[in-house]
Amino acid sequence: MGKELKIGVLISGSGSNLQSIMDACAAGAINGRVVCVISNKADAFGLERARKAGIPALHLDHRAYSGREAYDEALVATLREFEVELVVLAGFMRIITSVLLDAFPMRVMNIHPALLPAFPGLHAQRQALEYGAKVAGCTVHFVDCGTDTGPIIMQAAVPVLQGDTEESLCARIQKEEHRIYPEAVRLFSEGLLQVDGRVVTVSA
Ligand code: GRF
Repeated sequence: MGKELKIGVLISGSGSNLQSIMDACAAGAINGRVVCVISNKADAFGLERARKAGIPALHLDHRAYSGREAYDEALVATLREFEVELVVLAGFMRIITSVLLDAFPMRVMNIHPALLPAFPGLHAQRQALEYGAKVAGCTVHFVDCGTDTGPIIMQAAVPVLQGDTEESLCARIQKEEHRIYPEAVRLFSEGLLQVDGRVVTVSA
């Protein structure tokens, strides 16, 4: 087993995906450690989850910066301070720029609550319901400069049931998020992910 991967997690809210990754690290399922959690929102519950786990939890307010690039420069500086090797976006409600992506090439992951390329952007579960989709799900992908367009690492599907509300569908999808996000990070931590253009393969 190689050396422990240093993971930085960016959040804006509840942090249930953050929790699943911290838990997988604590259980030894991921050969890595969450070394810092950064939120653009002061009241994000995920910051409390991090503190409870003894992980540095920082609030970096995007409103204090002149623009997206300036904010991303501050993010990069903080992530470098903690020697982060993989940046995990977990409900981070900010558009990121090439400033962050160039600092961490193919080292920024995101989870999106839809089966991409269907329903990118905001309110993916609502989009699926309104479209009348019968299958929904979630996607872990590397982040590129588009919105939810980067190379797909892993996906999981769930049924859309009659009578579903946005909440019931979100809950069904989240169960799968909490399974596949730690699994994708595990594969990365073991150096098993290969990216060739859009296509990600897992080495044996
Ligand atoms: C998840 O539904 C994820 O797919 C989306 O934002 C939500 C974050 O939830 N990107 P949590 O903060 O991890 O609980």
